[in-house]
Amino acid sequence: MSDLKRSLGEAVAAAFAAQGLPEELGRVTASDRPDLADFQCNGALPAAKVAGKPPREIAAAVVEALAGRPELASVEIAGLGFINLRVSAKALSDRAREIAGDSRAGGAEMPSPRRVIIDYAGPNVAKPMHVGHLRSSIIGESLKRLYRFRGDQVLGDAHFGDWGFQMGLLIVAACDEDPFVRTLMERLGDTPRDFNAAEERQVMDALGDHVDLTMLDRLYPQAAGLAKTDVEFRDRARRATAELQAGRPGYRLLWRQFVKVSRVALEREFHALGVDFDLWKGESDVDPLIAPMVAELEAKGLLVEDQGARVIHLARPGETKKKKAEDGTVYEAPSPDPLIVISSEGSAMYGTTDLATVLDRRKSFDPDLILYCVDQRQAGHFEQVFRASYLAGYAEPGALEHIGFGTMNGPDGKPFKTREGGVLKLHDLIEMTRAKARERLNEAGLGSELTPEEFEATAHKVAVAALKFADLSNYRGTSYIFDLDRFSSFEGKTGPYLLYQAVRIKSVLRRAEAERLEPGRISIVEPAERELALLLDAFEAALAEAYDKKAPNFIAEHAFKLAQSFSRFYAACPILQAGDAAVSASRLALAGTTLKQLELALDLLGIETPERM
Ligand code: ARG
Repeated sequence: MSDLKRSLGEAVAAAFAAQGLPEELGRVTASDRPDLADFQCNGALPAAKVAGKPPREIAAAVVEALAGRPELASVEIAGLGFINLRVSAKALSDRAREIAGDSRAGGAEMPSPRRVIIDYAGPNVAKPMHVGHLRSSIIGESLKRLYRFRGDQVLGDAHFGDWGFQMGLLIVAACDEDPFVRTLMERLGDTPRDFNAAEERQVMDALGDHVDLTMLDRLYPQAAGLAKTDVEFRDRARRATAELQAGRPGYRLLWRQFVKVSRVALEREFHALGVDFDLWKGESDVDPLIAPMVAELEAKGLLVEDQGARVIHLARPGETKKKKAEDGTVYEAPSPDPLIVISSEGSAMYGTTDLATVLDRRKSFDPDLILYCVDQRQAGHFEQVFRASYLAGYAEPGALEHIGFGTMNGPDGKPFKTREGGVLKLHDLIEMTRAKARERLNEAGLGSELTPEEFEATAHKVAVAALKFADLSNYRGTSYIFDLDRFSSFEGKTGPYLLYQAVRIKSVLRRAEAERLEPGRISIVEPAERELALLLDAFEAALAEAYDKKAPNFIAEHAFKLAQSFSRFYAACPILQAGDAAVSASRLALAGTTLKQLELALDLLGIETPERM
């Protein structure tokens, strides 16, 4: 099954090729004059330059080659040599029926599936999540769903930040606050050892009574603040981090408790957002791989001494950037900077864990592709990790890709902050959006027939749709301004508008069912039906573009156009009161098919639709 846009594109491309012209010039797009045509091709104009012939002459040859194709009602030349294609009502009806009968709603599956890991969200133990984590979660979840839908074998990994300095901060803060924890840590000593199961259970149970989420939420900001002013505290936290990583037994168990408590809370929070991971691998998981990896890099001659650190040089000859020395003189330095594998203090770095993670993923899953959905500001870091991985032979060149994104900004154009100027916690952001959603529902007179529980569940769905659609309707690379009033409106290009349209179709379908009206054979007749059928056909092209560019905004755009087109169709073409049983049945089927595709598109964006509002 192929979409009309693609099959016409191929036919036009072949007509260009037959004239000895580049196939790419035969590109077909949706017409920007739906009153004149369904599709258009503008390639005859650039082709004229290549061929040294008038564009209309080239266009005429294309028209001739296409004449007689059964799916076309007309092919015409307009203006300087634009080719206008109009699809026949039969072809459009056939295609709409095909989509109606397709559980994938017209979205194709890739012929050769790949193995893909998507590294996204990247939350950290105890540190509150902020809007950067939100964007990563939203975009990563959507890409995961899209890749899976296209047929790839995909694993989503939260890549849990559980191994850094924040762990030492928490250990020291917990010992300072709770004498029980402190005494327990002392009693367990500092020599690494294994526990027997009973002893371990006993310690974990005891820690469970003392270390909970409220404690972590309270301790982390305190400790992070203190470390900035209190040198002694900071040094103790550094030491604790090193001792933890070296295997100090009490710290290991205390750390396990931190990780457990944090993860349970995070998983719950992500799940409420419709974000679920296949893997919760921690940065700590690759710790045992680091020593052998370093030895191997050493043996390969990739590690070099640099001011006491062990680094990998990454710049190719001639790759430099201007740098300023301490005395102000400007010089050319290799670019990108070398990757620091072991710091001058002997510790593994952020890049070291990422490099070891590439190795780990290769061993466990052997992916064809790893996508890192992380803030654009980490682009330099990933450039270093990727180059080092390729040099070390841990991944095929091109198999690692940074999916960067811009920031969500406040009205001042800077990354979004709370009114007090602090980092906005994800939790608070969602709560705020939910409150707004309730307000919007009430103001629109929606949901008044729902039970309080149903109303709450609907408000939650509206809130998630508002946040996710606002994010995903922009190309991921661009930053956008957080505007809750606009995002949560039931009008305009918003998530709530899409939910509203989907719910409207559901209610039509329910009414039809009550009136015992069955969907029937689709025939496309009216202009509004044509427009809707053409959009149903355009789903595949939108998916393909989103997939190739790793950019869900193409799906968001499609969903929005589809909803708008349905709205026009519904206004122009009565469904239940069509006055003719066959017409009613056709329109009902068209409405049901639109709903199926709309819900699928929304699902690929990670958005769930309520049954009613
Ligand atoms: N935990 C990191 C942060 O909060 C993000 C991790 C991104 N993924 C990665 N493989 N480095 O900034």
